[in-house]
Amino acid sequence: MTKTLSEIWNEVDGCRLCRLCETRTTIVFGVGDPNAEVMFIGEAPGKQEDLGAEPFIGAAGKYLNTLLSHAGLKREEIYIANILKCRPPENRNPLPEEMEACTPFLRDQVQAINPEILVTLGNFSTRFILRTDRGITGLRGQVHLTGRFSVIPTFHPAAAIYDPSKKPFMEQDFVLLGRLLEKRRAEKAQRLVAEKCVQPAADEIRLPATEETSDECFS
Ligand code: URA
Repeated sequence: MTKTLSEIWNEVDGCRLCRLCETRTTIVFGVGDPNAEVMFIGEAPGKQEDLGAEPFIGAAGKYLNTLLSHAGLKREEIYIANILKCRPPENRNPLPEEMEACTPFLRDQVQAINPEILVTLGNFSTRFILRTDRGITGLRGQVHLTGRFSVIPTFHPAAAIYDPSKKPFMEQDFVLLGRLLEKRRAEKAQRLVAEKCVQPAADEIRLPATEETSDECFS
């Protein structure tokens, strides 16, 4: 059964499943619109996130906010979570046992939000979501399908800050995200119209014919 975000939070709260509980300041659960069409998945909280209890509020987060504009998105429209909910000391890479302990929470979050599109930021989240050993450089730049989700893998924003030659590729990936969203929204609007054609609501049928209601749907 799908858990709600607050049920998942109750399970994460006070978690001691791995040793990161000994060094964390706060648990960084995730933030954003619980009905988001797009969910972003990062790696693990950094220093700012560990202090502020929110993903992507440091330098990488500021760059992420800029990138969102290339997709026509605002931060409050998306949901963001990480592979790990607690900061690894000195921002080292997540260990396999930490990922094993923590990713069931992420899986539940993905199910609770049920987004249409997942954007994976960097190698760790991309490998986890796409269940692959391939690196991000070969996977980015296209839309992948896994289960019912479309997945757009891209570099981690921190990697692009460190190596600015990655920035144009990230921007391309966010433009791709914007186009996919537009296409999805247009398809959804068309489906709604088609459903209305098949099953017009009772009060619509009673309306006197006007230019709007006497279109080809009803003729
Ligand atoms: N990097 C991440 O992967 N996640 C954060 O929340 C911050 C930096």
